Formats: sequence, structure tokens, C-alpha cells
Amino acid sequence: MFDLTPALDLPKSELYAELASAAAALVDGEPDSIANMANVAAAISQFVPDLNWAGFYRVIRREVGGEGELVLGPFIGKPACIRIPMGQGVCGTAAASGETQIVPDVHAFPGHIACDAASRSELVVPVVKAGQVVAVIDLDSPTPGRFDEDDAAGMARIAEIAARAI
Ligand code: SME
Repeated sequence: MFDLTPALDLPKSELYAELASAAAALVDGEPDSIANMANVAAAISQFVPDLNWAGFYRVIRREVGGEGELVLGPFIGKPACIRIPMGQGVCGTAAASGETQIVPDVHAFPGHIACDAASRSELVVPVVKAGQVVAVIDLDSPTPGRFDEDDAAGMARIAEIAARAI
């Protein structure tokens, strides 16, 4: 067990810096991508307040034709949709575009895929390895407008650490 004790009243930049240090330490020297995604998801859920879901969707590409789809990876939260077509929902949009999605109101996002009825806002950050999106990190909050550019910047750092660990 790793005893992470984040001080949740830190300014966001410091909170994400501490999360980055914790995530980097958790994956250090470990080659197993599932174990690393599981520990990074657990660290995110401990460090980032006001979440009801935090975890990974992996890009599974087809051998021949098509762009593949997202398949559920390690997460903390309620059981979630397993497969998401590229380009659909918030996660599929982030994966297909390679661009972080900050969604202040999930009900206003065309094609949003509801996995937990408690979710009101969402942040999805692509995990890019060798120029390809290999996964996304999805954070859901029960609070509308929970995520801003500081959260996106902080999570981009976590996505970089994840990219080296999966
Ligand atoms: N809301 C996401 C689906 C994943 S769940 O939130 C865990 C989406 O629209 O892609």
C-alpha cells in the first residue's frame, strides 16, 4: 500500500505538482501498463477533489481498416460503458481530435455518453505516445463547471507521465 496524504486545500498548481510526483513515483520502474493505469487512477481520485469517476479509456486499433475504438481501462467510480466509438461522446471526441475536452455542462455536450447519472461536468485529456493517442484520462464531477484550464494543464502533466507508463 502507498500512503498518499494530499493536502486538498493547496492551490491547484501545487496540488497537480504533488499528484505528478506521486504518479511518477507509483509507475517508476514498473512495466505493467494495467498496474500503472490502476495506480494513476487511484492517485487522481485521492488528489483531485469533487470527482465521482476517474480513469482510463484505451484506444484499441484494428489491424485492418477503421480507426478503432475506446475500451474501458482501470478506473475509480461506478461501473461504466465499456466501448466508445472514436469521435463519439466526450472521450471519443478527445481521442479522435487529440485535444483536451473541458465540458462545463455534460447535458449541453452533443452526444455525451452518460455512464453515471451524478456526472455534471467532465474533463478528458488525451494520452499521446509517439504521436498517437493511445488512451484518454476521463474525470467526471457531480459539480457543474468543476474543471478549468488549470485542471486541464495539471492533468496534461499526468497524461505525459501515463504515456511513458502504459
Ligand atoms: N461521459 C463519457 C463516457 C465515459 S463516462 O463518463 C465514465 C463520454 O461522453 O465520453
